[in-house]
Parts: sequence; C-alpha cells; structure tokens
Amino acid sequence: MLKKGLIIEKSFSFSKIGFVLATAGSAVGLGNIWRFPYITGEYGGGAFVLVYLAALFAVSFPLLIGEIFLGQMGKKDPVSSYEFLAPNGKKYWKFAGFVIVTAILILSFYNVVIGWILYYAYLVLTDLPQDIIQAKEVFTNMVANGVGTQILFFSIGSLLVAWIVYKGVDRGIQKLNLFLMPALILILLFMFVYSMSLDSFKNALYFMFEPNFSKLTPQAILVAVGQAFFTVSVGVGVIMTYASFSKESQNIFRSSLWIIIIDTFIAIIAGVMSFAFLFNSNLGSSQSVGLAFMSMPIAFVPFGNIGVFLAFLFFVALAFASITSAISLLEAPVTYLTQRHKLKRTKATIISALLVYVLGLFALLSLTKDYSMQILGKSIFDTLDFITAAILMPIGGLLIAFFIGFVLKKEDVYAYLSKRGLRSRLNFSLWYYSLKIISPIIIVVVILNQFGVL
Ligand code: TRP
Repeated sequence: MLKKGLIIEKSFSFSKIGFVLATAGSAVGLGNIWRFPYITGEYGGGAFVLVYLAALFAVSFPLLIGEIFLGQMGKKDPVSSYEFLAPNGKKYWKFAGFVIVTAILILSFYNVVIGWILYYAYLVLTDLPQDIIQAKEVFTNMVANGVGTQILFFSIGSLLVAWIVYKGVDRGIQKLNLFLMPALILILLFMFVYSMSLDSFKNALYFMFEPNFSKLTPQAILVAVGQAFFTVSVGVGVIMTYASFSKESQNIFRSSLWIIIIDTFIAIIAGVMSFAFLFNSNLGSSQSVGLAFMSMPIAFVPFGNIGVFLAFLFFVALAFASITSAISLLEAPVTYLTQRHKLKRTKATIISALLVYVLGLFALLSLTKDYSMQILGKSIFDTLDFITAAILMPIGGLLIAFFIGFVLKKEDVYAYLSKRGLRSRLNFSLWYYSLKIISPIIIVVVILNQFGVL
C-alpha cells in the first residue's frame, strides 16, 4: 500500500555498498594519484601529510556528512533538494543548488586530462620515453602541438563518460563503480607491493611519514587544507546528487567514514608507491604537475618489459580513478535536467555532455601553440581549474555549512541524523559545530589566501 507523500518517482536507489563505492569513486580521482603525491613532494612530506589528515577530519569529513545528509533527505536534484528543505520564506536557497554549474566547469577540463591519460596508456605500451628530457619533450609537445591527437582521445573519453551516464545510475554508474573501484585498489596494491622490493621503498616511507616541521610554511598548511577539501568532491552538488539515490536507511556517518578511509588509503598508497619508484630512479620528489606524465613513466624504465607493463598499469589506474569521478560530475546536471525539467535521460545526457564537450574543447585548445587563448593572463584550462578549485568549490562548501548550521533547525537535523549514525549527543555536537563554526572559518581563510589577501 502506498501512503500519500511517500510516492517518489524514483524507482532506483543505490545498494548500500554501491553508494559508498560510487561516492568514493567520485572522491578518488586525479587529486589522489596525481596531485596528492606531487604537492606532498613539493611541500616536504610527513608534516604536510599530518596537516592534510587533520584538515580532512576537521573540515572535509563534516562537510561530506552534511552534503550526504542534504541529498538523502532532499531526494532530488540539488536545486530541488535545497528548495524542498528550505523553510518557507527562504525558498531562495534553491539557488544554492546551482553549484552544479561548478561540476560542468570541472568536468570540461577533467575530460581533457582523461584524454591525455588514455593517450598515455597507449603511448607507454608502444613508445615509452627513455629519459626525463625526452619525457618532457613528449608531454609538452603533445599539449602544444598534438591538436589532432588530443582531440581524438578527448573525444573518446568524453563519449565513454557520457555513455556510462546515459546507461543510468543503476546499470551505468553503480555497475561500473562496483567493478572499477575494487580493480583500482587491486592495481595500486599490486604496484605498491612491487615497490616494496625496491631499496628506495624505505626512503619513500620516511619521506611520507617523517614529519619535518621546518618545511611546514603557512603556505604549505593552506595547500594541505585546500587539497583535503578538493579530494572529497564536496561543494559542487555531486555528492548531493548521488546521495539523493541512496537508501533512506543508509548510515550517513559510517558511509562518510568509509569514503574518507578509501580516499585516504588510495592517496597514501599511490604516494608511497610513486616516491619509491621515483627515488629508485633518482628522480626528485617535487616535479610539479609533470609528475604523472613526465617523471612517473621514466621511473619505470629500469624495469624493462615489466616497466612497460607497470607504466601501463599506472595509466590504467589513473583512467579508472578519473572516469569514476567524471561520471559523477556529469550525473549532477543530468539529474537536474531529468528531475526538475522532466527531460528524458537521453536528451539530458546529450545536452549536458555537449555543453561540457564544447567547453572542454576550448580548454584543450587554449593550451596549444596555434590556438592558445587566455583569460586574465591564464589559459582557459588553468582559469577553469583555478576558478573551480579556488573559488566555486569552497563557496559550495560554505553554502552547505551555512544552510545546515544557520537555516535548518538543529533539532530537525539531529532527529534525522540520530537514526543514521550520529546517535550520541556528543558526536552530533562535535560534527555540528565543526560544520557550523570551524569549517567556514578555515574555508574563508583558504579563499582569502588564494587572492593573496593573507
Ligand atoms: N575529488 C576529485 C579528485 O580528487 C576532484 C573533484 C573535485 C571532483 N570536486 C569534484 C570529482 C566533484 C568529482 C566531483 O580528483
């Protein structure tokens, strides 16, 4: 018997493990395997990792719980969920749901990087660069001159992502994550275990875990906080969208904890493994953005044919990690169009994917020599990266914190969450005040720093 008010158009919800893996799939991305190792290298290792972990628990974890809560309770696309949850007279909060625009912007340059990764998976099998000078040349040449190659692989990646989303949350997204996430963990574990046989493994461990506080500049602290924020994918409506498909009985606290654990585990495994291979080849720790595409392939050269295989595995891992993030980014606007504007899924996917594709094409071309385009002295690619990571995502985080902390009634929030993992008053209060007070302060400091105010 259907009770009035309980009839929901949605026929599908994630299984409990499906939700955790899909959301972890969104969180685990380029940020974990590419960005985390190189900034850890740049900012000095162990002490940086400690600050990162602290920020993860003080800021990211509370926000993640908050965003899942909004999605699970709202049960709709972010715009409709905010509108539904906002008290009468404050329905303008629906505009907070338009953080999904950030998802579109992120995806446009994320797909460009996915194109590079797919190309590299193929390149290292046929033509692994042999030294760092060659590797630099291959990469810079691809970005600056390989217009056709990049567009080809970018198109393949974009199509793949659109295809999975088109297949639906159950038969596309959940199914893929149930397979790709365990596969990703196995690949990284295999590479990690392989790296244990290297003499440099010990150094890699020291590097990641020995805190050297002299290197911990204020700048390093802010980068660590920024990364902790970036890595969990909050603030762009994507987690909220996934959570709208979660079961009512999904334990929000426990799921969030698992997502953070998987995310951190993968970042650390990837970090130690990368440094073990890099140190083994006497490659430095701070190679900036070139780490994944220049230093890592070279680090596998000494292993001959096995090295080629390892390099291939490395790019397969990157591909898996980034594709599971990309589909979550595309699902946000697709859910919005299907639920709020009642579009068919096919149409919604085509519209969203095309928009992302055109934007991505500009981002891609903006880095090339012949079609370079700049906004405010940066390529479109870098501008998109900067605007989303430095401004829009933190704003999305602030909106979650303010909405839960100052707009919703505390007792209503407690009533919901007490049945979903935050039963004890103490735990609830710890979460609530971290979200309401601590995270906004830290986020504002990070934003101000991006503009050189501090
Ligand atoms: N967390 C992703 C990573 O570590 C990047 C990211 C940021 C993201 N915001 C997102 C991915 C939103 C998906 C959805 O690479």
